[in-house]
Amino acid sequence: MASVPVPHQPIATAVVKPASPVQDRVDVPQPFAARAKLSAVGYAALYRQSIDDPERFWSEQGLRLDWSTPYSYASRSTWAPGEHSVSWYGDGELNACVNCVDRHLEHRGDKVALLWEGDEPGTTASLTYRELYDRVCRFANVLRADGVSKGDRVTIYLPMILDAVIAMLACARIGAIHSVVFGGFSTDAIAGRIEDCRSDYLITADGGRRGGKRIDLKGNCDEACKRASGVRRMLVIRHTGDAVAMKAGRDRWLHDALADVDAECPAEPMNAEDPLFILYTSGSTGKPKGVLHTTGGYLVYANLTFDTVFDYRDDDVYWCTADVGWVTGHSYIVYGPLSNGATSLVFEGVPSYPDAGRCWDVVDRHRVSIFYTAPTAIRALMREGEAPVRRHKRTSLRLLGSVGEPINPEAWHWYHQVVGERRCPVVDTWWQTETGGVMMVPLPGTTAMKPGSAMKPFFGVTPALVDAEGQTLSGAAEGNLVLTGSWPGQLRTVYGNHDRYLETYFSTYPGQYFTGDGCRRDGDGDYWITGRVDDVLNVSGHRLGTAELESALVGHPSVAEAAVVGCPCDLKGQGIYAFVTLRAGERGSDAQRKALIDTLRKTLGPIAKPDAIQFADALPKTRSGKIMRRILRKVAADEVDQIGDVSTLAEPKVVETLINDRISING
Ligand code: WT7
Repeated sequence: MASVPVPHQPIATAVVKPASPVQDRVDVPQPFAARAKLSAVGYAALYRQSIDDPERFWSEQGLRLDWSTPYSYASRSTWAPGEHSVSWYGDGELNACVNCVDRHLEHRGDKVALLWEGDEPGTTASLTYRELYDRVCRFANVLRADGVSKGDRVTIYLPMILDAVIAMLACARIGAIHSVVFGGFSTDAIAGRIEDCRSDYLITADGGRRGGKRIDLKGNCDEACKRASGVRRMLVIRHTGDAVAMKAGRDRWLHDALADVDAECPAEPMNAEDPLFILYTSGSTGKPKGVLHTTGGYLVYANLTFDTVFDYRDDDVYWCTADVGWVTGHSYIVYGPLSNGATSLVFEGVPSYPDAGRCWDVVDRHRVSIFYTAPTAIRALMREGEAPVRRHKRTSLRLLGSVGEPINPEAWHWYHQVVGERRCPVVDTWWQTETGGVMMVPLPGTTAMKPGSAMKPFFGVTPALVDAEGQTLSGAAEGNLVLTGSWPGQLRTVYGNHDRYLETYFSTYPGQYFTGDGCRRDGDGDYWITGRVDDVLNVSGHRLGTAELESALVGHPSVAEAAVVGCPCDLKGQGIYAFVTLRAGERGSDAQRKALIDTLRKTLGPIAKPDAIQFADALPKTRSGKIMRRILRKVAADEVDQIGDVSTLAEPKVVETLINDRISING
């Protein structure tokens, strides 16, 4: 059976224990609850319906979108081993761009679709839906004129500028599959993603700005193209004005290309199951996987979750601080908000620049009413104290969201009390790149909130907790989180490798989707995500595979062997702790450490910077040569008293040296 790694966190069999030592509950503030779209009763009834009669529920929800050919069914999906197949709205046709742009022109043509706040405070721009339509059509015509057509893969490597959203929508308009690569990734990461999906078209910019620093996007692309062959066209957007080298025949400025194209661009009718995008994400083994999402189900799910999770109203100004390089940006900067006709703010900078009050300055100037960010940002701002928050009014805020990693109760309360002044509900949203949209959340107005708990499944979502043997646990319990049935936003495959898709998600617990997360359910039936149980790290809400980090380290000529584990980090949630064995004759010096950090930065990007590199003469291995990560995790976490039995090791002495040389990362 399971060829996937065995979960490494202790899995209890069904034991009844309180969710947390102190049962911390916060009610949704009365003024908010009184106006909320959903009530507790409403949630319960709709959730029941979505489970008892999913076909009816999802057929109705599908009508949120405009279809050029109506669907005759909602779902024909089974996860049964051997006959796994997933289809949502599979005989319907629609276009995602039309649903995000064209259909709003009649009633919301002059409404602001996108707001932009640049890295430097006060550099702003905006586009109404009509202006967005014009920009997207022209951009799409550039792609078409360049020979891009339905099914082609287009790689997008851009800073957080409006053209990033426009480029995505332009791809969707002509049926091209976009693969957005986070602008913080480095050359190897870009090259690997271009090669994996055999993409021959790359969209980038001259440069980017983040927190006052310049990012050489064009230079990174040039480097990447030396490694990945096959890019025939690099379309370059002028943003910073930095001088860049343009390769004749391959590179072209967007503004030059735009001069030759029409203003109208008919949209490609897409089958609901035609691919919309690929997004690479790290797994426990091997290279990042190209998670593939299709058009109809994904968009229904993004649309419905955005509308309900954020209790969205027509007059909201919505700001999600994620980058479009992550799934949060896809679903909750672009597709969810725009398909609802919302105003979505795109932010180029970082919360700490030029100072810790930046977010609240942006909130005040743009009258942001819904704010969605990651716990790591909240913790970083919390460290700076209340003054930078209090300096700004924040009266426009009415709802706060959290995503990407478990939020610790201390940060939750600070967010709720200091930022939201107890006026705003906090929605802690659990989901994944693979799920397309939010899967668990305290839907605002329907439930009290428990700091640190994602609370309840979204409509149509059926979570279950299982033990290592796959036995389903009932009642209050802790185990591995699986989902027992399909939902419209689920990934359809790993691009180019369907077997890897089946193996990664459906083989550990046959017939069920394994999330890779551990989870606890309390006596009230509320869910608490406890973190990854596989070899995936969550660093500041960013997913990194230990295998990728190790292969980058081993790529350095001085390194013989490397093992990377996560360690608790007050700020980032999880830090990166690397154990490195050098080749004979090499010495573990500070210079060597710097060189390795540099290698990780160059191959993967700044987010891969390790918090500790411990040089070790040997790593703890079993007699069959397998590295005992369990031991390394305890050393990295400074929990050496919990290492337990080491008698099965080939050389138990190794552990003593590791313990003596351990590095403390939290101060
Ligand atoms: C992993 C997915 C969802 C978009 C951003 C991350 C962790 C995500 C929460 C949350 C606890 C969370 C899980 C999950 N995670 N949200 N609210 N509470 N953990 O997407 O990069 O695919 O990472 O992030 O471990 O499996 P991703």
